[in-house]
Amino acid sequence: MRTLIKGGTVLSPAGGVAADVLVEDERVAAVTAPGLFDTADTVLDATGKYVLPGGIDAHTHMEMPFGGTFSSDTFATGTTAAAWGGTTTIIDFAVQAKGTSLASTLDKWHEKADGNCAVDYGFHMIVSDVNDSTLKEMESCVDAGVSSFKMFMAYPGVFYSTDGEILRAMRKATETGSMIMMHAENGIAIDQLVAQALAEGKGDPVQHGLTRPSALEGEATSRAITLARVTGSPLYIVHLSAAEALSAVAAARDAGQNVFAETCPQYLYLSIEDLARPDFEGAKYVASPPLREKKHQADLWRGLRTNDLSVVSTDHCPFCFKDQKELGRGDFSKIPNGIPGVEHRMDLLHQGVVAGEISLGRWVEACSTTPARMFGLYPRKGVIAPGADADIVIYDPAATQTLSAETHHMAVDYSAYEGFELTGKVETVLSRGKVVVSPSGFSGGTGHGRFLSRDLCQYLN
Ligand code: URP
Ligand code: ZN
Ligand code: ZN
Repeated sequence: MRTLIKGGTVLSPAGGVAADVLVEDERVAAVTAPGLFDTADTVLDATGKYVLPGGIDAHTHMEMPFGGTFSSDTFATGTTAAAWGGTTTIIDFAVQAKGTSLASTLDKWHEKADGNCAVDYGFHMIVSDVNDSTLKEMESCVDAGVSSFKMFMAYPGVFYSTDGEILRAMRKATETGSMIMMHAENGIAIDQLVAQALAEGKGDPVQHGLTRPSALEGEATSRAITLARVTGSPLYIVHLSAAEALSAVAAARDAGQNVFAETCPQYLYLSIEDLARPDFEGAKYVASPPLREKKHQADLWRGLRTNDLSVVSTDHCPFCFKDQKELGRGDFSKIPNGIPGVEHRMDLLHQGVVAGEISLGRWVEACSTTPARMFGLYPRKGVIAPGADADIVIYDPAATQTLSAETHHMAVDYSAYEGFELTGKVETVLSRGKVVVSPSGFSGGTGHGRFLSRDLCQYLN
């Protein structure tokens, strides 16, 4: 089965070239000068469009247990929404509950995802219980294609690890060549600020932001970097939101340390003003780290340009406003933490191209090529080149759209980007050679996505 994508501009981190792409079954067979091939079983006309490697969202939470509920997208609904938005690979977090093994956690996440995904998927492992046995199990996770481990300096009593526990896990990461991913917020200090606000009768969603100041993200980021330096471990800071944290990452990178970081669209486009919306509407914007003052956004865009921020992921973690965010009415600390976004990352970052914040090449690099290399998927994913999986997006840079809960495909009853008017829109999406989204609609299936056993980080190994 041959598919020819002709007449488009093929994008990579180096920019765009006029080229045709020939797909044979599940893989890219050739990228040629325009017009070299004429016939195929299917010909897709990409004239005036971009042809780019499918997006890789390296940070999602489908069906994630949190605060007595579960994030509202299943692997089926969440990966279908991802496909609609041009994301053809997700890496989701398996969550170790305290007292359980990493092996049983991985089994559980396979049970949820296997046979239910519309696009390919891999897992990171959240390690919340560091002991001799789980440290040993990190080795078998790497063998099973789960080569990155998230730890938390926040959420004492739930996911939190002490500095000593982090140090031990980092040593194991050094030994196995795997990656530690850090949620860097000083949770011990934050818990005090939260208790104080509640004692003063301050229960509104905006308090979520006020009790998690950016300085405490900067402090935790610096501490994580120091622990990584001491142990020789690489470090990937997840969902970086604050200028102070970015400075710490930039300084470590300038000093030659293997420190990487991602940010998320919500930190580039939304702010604490959204958290302060009246009538409990702010609950829609509760995530950790919290949305910051607008002044941080310019720093984050700069970080993306200079590569101090290498990846844009969504931290997609949807909770419905009506039944789930509601759990925290009157007590912001009980609002489930998370913002939906897996469907909109490619479009929102393309808007950064339109606004002149990043180049076309940087768009593709931060949203596809770098996550592939960071998490051991390159060159199977993240590039349009012979032999790569034919995960391909045909993108119309001139189309316009308005984001809304009325039209999105995520299983959540609100959009954090309601009313955003964007230039650029996904037209057609191929996942391993199969057209799963086209102008006629969704033609994929929730059994199509396959588990991706990942190698080690390809910037280091
Ligand atoms: O608020 C967030 N970010 N929820 C998901 C869990 C996490 O910390 O990534
Ligand atoms: Zn986190
Ligand atoms: Zn997350």
